[in-house]
Amino acid sequence: MPRLHIIGGCRLAGTVKISGAKNSAVAVIPAALLTAAPVRLENLPNIHDIQVLVEILRFLGVKTVWENATTLLIDASKIEKTQAPYELVKKLRASYYFMGALLGRLGEADIPVPGGCDLGPRPIDQHIKGLVSLGAQVDVEHGLIKVRADKLVGAHIYLDVVSVGATINIMLAAVRAEGKTVIENAAKEPEIVDVANFLNAMGAKIRGAGTDVIRITGVKELGGANHCVIPDRIEAGTYMIAAAATGGDVAIEDIIPKHLDPIIAKLREMGITVEVGDDRLRVLGNTTPQAVDIKTFPYPGFPTDMQSLVMVLLTQAQGSSIITENVFEGRFKHVDELKRMGARIKVEGRTAIVDGRTQLSGAPVRATDLRAGAAFIIAGLIANGETIISDIHHIYRGYENICGKLTSLGAKIKEVP
Ligand code: UD1
Repeated sequence: MPRLHIIGGCRLAGTVKISGAKNSAVAVIPAALLTAAPVRLENLPNIHDIQVLVEILRFLGVKTVWENATTLLIDASKIEKTQAPYELVKKLRASYYFMGALLGRLGEADIPVPGGCDLGPRPIDQHIKGLVSLGAQVDVEHGLIKVRADKLVGAHIYLDVVSVGATINIMLAAVRAEGKTVIENAAKEPEIVDVANFLNAMGAKIRGAGTDVIRITGVKELGGANHCVIPDRIEAGTYMIAAAATGGDVAIEDIIPKHLDPIIAKLREMGITVEVGDDRLRVLGNTTPQAVDIKTFPYPGFPTDMQSLVMVLLTQAQGSSIITENVFEGRFKHVDELKRMGARIKVEGRTAIVDGRTQLSGAPVRATDLRAGAAFIIAGLIANGETIISDIHHIYRGYENICGKLTSLGAKIKEVP
């Protein structure tokens, strides 16, 4: 696997266009299996997770054609298999959406326990609880989740934890269930609204997506649809942090600024200028950021996916900051690597205390997960000397053309063998 080589000390400037949202795209692709009619998906990000999902579709016997780099035609009129292969499923978390989608369409699915970033324990008990409530039988044997249902019947489901994956998975099955389903304590992320909009365009009856109560009236059949995936708020947030950390001036385009409210608010609290337009914003890292305290929470709270990224910025702040990770208990694996670059961070349980005003120095580091990998890139941009990042397959899972986009902003970053 190649590595990323970064020379620090540049100030980012220019304009960057944001790709489609990974966490929405990885759900709408399996969702397309719910109909026998053709589906057209636009604005898919050109990332490894999407390529793997398309490989899974092809393995299942589903026809897929790329109309261009970001538009995919899916024809699931025939699905030959309902068992997804371990070698592909282990590569990404979102393969769990094949459970809900195949169950809704064919009443059966055999999906290996999914992979994805190692953020500590990532149970899927709420997905299973939801599918069982809808009448499915779920058995986990030898690393395989076997889901079966002769008939799905709408149910009232209260999620014990706010889960993006469980909310979407239950929606996928419930749109084809008989009668009404209510999901309470549902996750409210914009990606959930996007998936619901896609399903409704296919003829589903989903109301309340984006609030914590989602009501679904099942339908007998879904039709074809054309859907354009929303912009990736975490990719946008990544470039916002990169601009702020390098003292740069970056316009971030093709976004929905509202989805970035929690990130914009924190950057402004740090004293960084963020100018917001209709579908773009500009970050001016014109000042030393002030230390702030950050607590991650489900949307509309500060996103856990931005935690490692903002931590790098806070190593440059005036004073010490406290970060509390409330979503994933094991999401501080990046801290040891940042310390190797000179960061002064103390972790106690779910809390990290980050000292500011630290000159980072370039070092070899290993991308411990997708967002951590991007955080090390930003650390490399502000460090003295050279940083070499290994295990970059994590980064390529979720960032489209990250080297090209950063290079166009003036970064010195390249892939080396
Ligand atoms: C999704 C995102 C991920 C993001 C996360 C939180 C995708 C593909 N990934 O992950 O980028 O970091 O949301 O915004 O969309 N939990 C349970 N039982 C379950 C399900 C979840 O206890 O059945 C717990 C998890 O361990 C975690 C919390 O609930 O502590 C939130 O997880 P969840 O929202 O489900 O995250 P993912 O859907 O895996």
